[in-house]
Amino acid sequence: MTAQEIRKAYLDFFKERGHKLIPRALLVPQEDPTTLFTGSGMQPLIPYLLGESHPDGTRLVDSQTCLRAQDIDEVGDNRHTTFFEMLGNWSLGDYFKKDQISWLFEFLTNVVGLDPKKLYVTCYIGNSEFKIAKDKEAANLWVEQFKKVGIDAQQVDIGSEANGYAKGMGAGRIFFYDGKKNWWSRAGDEASTPIGDPGGPDTEVFYDFSTNHDTKWGKYCHPNCDCGRFVEIANSVFMAYRRNESGFEPLDKPNVDFGGGLERIAVASINDPDVFKISLLRPIIEKLEQISEKNYESHTESMRVIADHLRAATFLAVDGVVPSNKEQGYVMRRLVRRAIRYAFELGIEQNFIEEVTNTIADLYHLDFPEVSQRRDNIVSVLVKEEKVFRQTLRKGLHEFEKMWADGTHGVVTASSPPGKMIVDNDNAKKILYGRDIFTLYDTYGFPVELTKEEAFKQGIEIDSHADEEFEYLMREQRERSRTATKGEFKGGLADHSEITTKYHTATHLMYRALRNVLGDHVIQRGSNITTERLRFDFTHPEKMTPEQIKAVEDMVNEQIDKDWPMTWREENTKEALSKGVMGAFGDRYGESVKVYTVGEPDGINYSREICGGPHVEHTGQLGEGGKKFKITKEESSSAGVRRIKAILA
Ligand code: ALA
Repeated sequence: MTAQEIRKAYLDFFKERGHKLIPRALLVPQEDPTTLFTGSGMQPLIPYLLGESHPDGTRLVDSQTCLRAQDIDEVGDNRHTTFFEMLGNWSLGDYFKKDQISWLFEFLTNVVGLDPKKLYVTCYIGNSEFKIAKDKEAANLWVEQFKKVGIDAQQVDIGSEANGYAKGMGAGRIFFYDGKKNWWSRAGDEASTPIGDPGGPDTEVFYDFSTNHDTKWGKYCHPNCDCGRFVEIANSVFMAYRRNESGFEPLDKPNVDFGGGLERIAVASINDPDVFKISLLRPIIEKLEQISEKNYESHTESMRVIADHLRAATFLAVDGVVPSNKEQGYVMRRLVRRAIRYAFELGIEQNFIEEVTNTIADLYHLDFPEVSQRRDNIVSVLVKEEKVFRQTLRKGLHEFEKMWADGTHGVVTASSPPGKMIVDNDNAKKILYGRDIFTLYDTYGFPVELTKEEAFKQGIEIDSHADEEFEYLMREQRERSRTATKGEFKGGLADHSEITTKYHTATHLMYRALRNVLGDHVIQRGSNITTERLRFDFTHPEKMTPEQIKAVEDMVNEQIDKDWPMTWREENTKEALSKGVMGAFGDRYGESVKVYTVGEPDGINYSREICGGPHVEHTGQLGEGGKKFKITKEESSSAGVRRIKAILA
């Protein structure tokens, strides 16, 4: 079956079983400012999963266009794409595990025609801390399905992903994993589910492409192994809980939230692990082969990146996004520019976006009327960005040439810090410095990779400290653009530079993470921030274990990746405290206080804390330049009080 046929068959299958087809939501969420893009089918349905009644009833089906910008660097292998469609069916307090599992099995094996011997399943192993049981019920329902087609499905406990690599699969077909793998909420596992968010155990179906295991990932292969043998094609979430302060409370009526990657089901149906060979991507690759006069087999990665990025950018244009320097527009700009850069690698120097965008539109216009209605506009938005970028490139190249004309780039006799170049014009040899790369980038927007490539092409030597110097200048530049701060502030910060502001926000993320990981006995006892690090004292009776430290780091980094908005407003002190807003409890507050929220103050949020500020606007700023949050020290400060030092590096 083609991907288009699979999409139609799926929607029909569930319509025949009493589901109402609902329209897809736009890629830019309309009522949920906590995420830049719609990244799963359930996202627009959160209020209904939490109990609100849906105008179309209790059984819904759709194919949701999704974008996961965080996967941009993964694109290039045989299965990652930033844009994809998620087939979804939902039971809002209607049917539950039994129907979901039998219908899904029927759809995959009878309708799509997948060989049941190629299907493997994972289920949730349970969590004693949160008192959530192992999902034997789901596993047994799978056993029944497999039995009908003559397969005796054995169950195997795995636990963590690491255990999977250590143990392997044995004779198993159904595997129990922990909450990192078989619990679903938008944030990930049980512990990181934000308060108020729905979540639940899930059961996933994997397709076995029977390729050889690559031991680079671990000793043995297992369904959640990353070697590429198994690809997850379907996920049924039994969304029966909502996170609260202490753990989970059951929802009044449990829901089913099913998501299946259309592209991945399609790739299973052609029994070839390369997703770029399916009917929604292969024609784009063929177009690129034609334009570049190169073949896919020898230019696989570049072609995959271009095809993925332009398909994603096309759909962003369909949904009204235009390239810009912020938020969704920035991601779109990055996708288009990255595609053009990869096209250079294929030797495509001419304009090519119009042709490719038209090929993409042809693949979707019958099933998505908005594509045919807005086609001209979509193409022109992308073509315009191509023009702008090419101008940037021309200007950059011109400046690049000019650098060698002014005589300052002679040979350097000693490796030189910025501003202290020792020139020996008698032995004129061209050298490119970090400061040159920086100027081209900072003043003319010329991409770093292209500057280096140009130097390489022209036989210009790149200074061995170029990267360090470039990084140094970038850091300096960032610190120059200091955050303007207003109003009173008394929070133990050395100054209000951008870096201390980031550490201040990191402190909020960490305080919440410490309470989530260690418990609510954790109370802030002191905080001190310099441009080098944050320091934080808190009540906790014992040394933190390496696992706990790692869990806190991971949680903070996750919040940085999620790019939550950070906002404040005045609130009544008593009310705020009664709603669980955190504070440094030793302090005395007035009638009203300034409350900073990571996320939405009245909606989904990660932390709410009484504080004077200042903070960054978006948690993603903490990760700029690829930085990660890291705890460098955990020690005793006084009896019952621990002290942490942490950095962004
Ligand atoms: N919401 C579930 C997922 O995205 C189905 O995998």
